[in-house]
Amino acid sequence: MSLRAVVTGCGSYLPQDVMTNHDLAELVETSDEWIRERTGIRERHIADDGERTSDLAVAAARAALADAGRTPADIDLIIVATTTPDLTFPATAAIVQAKLDAPAGTAFDIQAVCTGFIYALATAEKFLRSGQHRCALVIGAETFSRILDWKDRATCVLFGDGAGAVVLRATDEEDRPGRRAVLSTHLHSDGRHHDLLYVDGGVSSTQTAGTVKMAGREVFRHAVENLSAVVDEALAANGLGMADVDWIVPHQANKRILDATARKLGVGAEKVVVTVDRHANTSAASIPLALAEAAGDGRIRPGHLVVVEAIGGGLAWGSGVIRW
Ligand code: ACO
Repeated sequence: MSLRAVVTGCGSYLPQDVMTNHDLAELVETSDEWIRERTGIRERHIADDGERTSDLAVAAARAALADAGRTPADIDLIIVATTTPDLTFPATAAIVQAKLDAPAGTAFDIQAVCTGFIYALATAEKFLRSGQHRCALVIGAETFSRILDWKDRATCVLFGDGAGAVVLRATDEEDRPGRRAVLSTHLHSDGRHHDLLYVDGGVSSTQTAGTVKMAGREVFRHAVENLSAVVDEALAANGLGMADVDWIVPHQANKRILDATARKLGVGAEKVVVTVDRHANTSAASIPLALAEAAGDGRIRPGHLVVVEAIGGGLAWGSGVIRW
């Protein structure tokens, strides 16, 4: 017997307002054709002025709790992965805890940009396995539209807002092959590349929020290289091969990155969950949004082997293997 963390539910939330590529073409010199060809993105959701990251997070959390058949009273750990917190402090997780009316427990944020959800999943999984907590909400939530330069066509076309959440529960069933669990997580970062993708503002530098700056081609190159390596690392650690994998659920940065990574891994497009066309890049929210969609429509089913992978600012990257 050993404690494991099991995913028992997931949910998501997208703001109502949809911005198409045609809408963007009225703001900057771009076109639907350019955006679709280079990124695969058709549209993205944008939060209302009054909607905060915590509101998106709470909506996704409620959906995940309902899916898991749980209530906020069951939750003793809340981790919110976000780069766009409501406030500099307190943690958005604390605000989420209050809005959910969840009991006192542990609540904190994780900031690993687009890899935030995997960092949060890895952290929650370790807390549950240690026996310190029993039931966790792991949320990725972003209002990335607030840190975009809407005059910079190279970046503003790429991102969107949204939130996704999973409920993780500690179980101590007997070890056996096929047992549901988060089987492994692998996290990496290489701060030497921190200036390839960053926001040019912050509390201790400019006292402003700043906007996203990116060396797109460089990020692309690192992405394909590191993502395929971290998936190989995850499979090797579990003694698995690509044939054992039912679904790859990648961070949804760009369809070309998804395709190039899949090619490098030798995995067919039919195993890759894609939402980037409708959600764009929602940073820490993109993986749980994609998980919720694919689990919700019955593609991901109990017993399936699911691999999640992401890379983003830092550079930080990682993967997780989940027996659903
Ligand atoms: N519409 C029209 N033209 C554009 C646009 C736009 N939205 N953006 C840039 N261009 C122009 C450029 O000005 C340039 O014009 P020029 O040749 O006259 O100078 C031309 O298109 C080519 O620009 P590049 O930046 O070289 O275009 P590239 O083919 O590299 O595509 C892109 C850009 C889509 C950003 C690509 O580099 C990419 O996908 N990078 C990965 C970055 C990414 O996905 N980041 C997300 C965050 S990180 C993560 O989540 C992994």
